[in-house]
Amino acid sequence: MSSLPSTMKAILVPQNGGAEVLQYTESQPIPPLSDGQVLVKNNFSGINFIDTYFRSGLYPPPGGKLPAIIGQEGAGTIAKIAGSNPLGFKEGDRVVWIFRGGYAEYTAVPADRVIKIPAGVSDEHAVGGFLMGMTALSLVKEAYPVQKGDTVLVHAAAGGMGLLLCQLLRGMDVTVIGTAGGPEKCALAKENGATHIIDYKASSGPSWVEQVLKLTGGKGVDCVFDGVGKDTWEGSLEVAKRKGKVVYFGNASGAVPPFNIQKLASKNLSIMRTTLNNYIVTREELEFYANGVLDLIKAGKLNIRIHKIYPLKDAAEAQRDLEGRRTTGKLLLKI
Ligand SMILES: NC(=O)c1ccc[n+]([C@@H]2O[C@H](COP(=O)([O-])OP(=O)(O)OC[C@H]3O[C@@H](n4cnc5c(N)ncnc54)[C@H](OP(=O)(O)O)[C@@H]3O)[C@@H](O)[C@H]2O)c1
Repeated sequence: MSSLPSTMKAILVPQNGGAEVLQYTESQPIPPLSDGQVLVKNNFSGINFIDTYFRSGLYPPPGGKLPAIIGQEGAGTIAKIAGSNPLGFKEGDRVVWIFRGGYAEYTAVPADRVIKIPAGVSDEHAVGGFLMGMTALSLVKEAYPVQKGDTVLVHAAAGGMGLLLCQLLRGMDVTVIGTAGGPEKCALAKENGATHIIDYKASSGPSWVEQVLKLTGGKGVDCVFDGVGKDTWEGSLEVAKRKGKVVYFGNASGAVPPFNIQKLASKNLSIMRTTLNNYIVTREELEFYANGVLDLIKAGKLNIRIHKIYPLKDAAEAQRDLEGRRTTGKLLLKI
């Protein structure tokens, strides 16, 4: 085993607040390993919108208390293995993981949350498509099992999740209606598989709800994938067809407020609120989605668009860009 330093670089959330609370340190102790964990030396860490919810206080901090190191995924090499090792990892294995504590040089991760990166897939693409790719697959396979011939609406279609959803749906023989803010984002969503695209930030013309209804001959769509939340949740119910479904999976504009369930009765609608973690509880489930995504990347069937790779110390700038709607695709931190 190569010798490990005692401290590392990391980004801490000392208290809840805006991106300015993120604190860069070079003297964070290397995390201790418990039995069944591996220590990963991260090469890249993935940035996800959920990191901003942990920072702002919309969600309780990972691990239950502050200060905390946020970051749900990383790619790098195994630096140390603790205790029994039933999955047969070796020091030096190139891996991608999903857990917590990713905005750091080293992360202690339960071994069953770690997946080997196949040859032919780069660290950037492995982590760039990992959490989001698995989420996108779980949405189209389990949250709403998409059928050939369906019409599906994807909000924020040029975002990290949006581009992956558009690409997956393109291969499923469905009509994809995407929404995106501004002409450049609209063009990108179209390139990635949206059949129709609506600029929901346009200041004139019909509303996005009116446009979706027009595109579907007044019927509405079979399913809406809504990760925008507060600004779109109600319109999403309006454009779902009779017996259709709205899958809420995020809060980019803020949380969906409590509402009267009677709203669903006018069209016998179904709604769902999903989180990836509940689709990948067992090792078998994690391997199903992880290998599904990595195989698609390796085969060139899922293109991971990296918006920008930020140095670890610039994590606050990265989060500001994400929250400020200035990004398309995936943001990474270079550790
Ligand atoms: N449930 C899960 O397990 C899971 C997993 C991964 C991600 N998610 C969710 O998926 C959603 C997308 O995540 P992402 O990381 O891929 O982000 P993203 O889509 O790349 O970025 C968010 C996008 O949302 C749109 N948006 C609309 N209103 C906004 C507002 N008021 N503030 C900020 N953005 C706004 C913007 O696109 P336009 O400019 O085009 O409107 C923005 O670029 C998030 O809600 C995230 O929490 C959920």
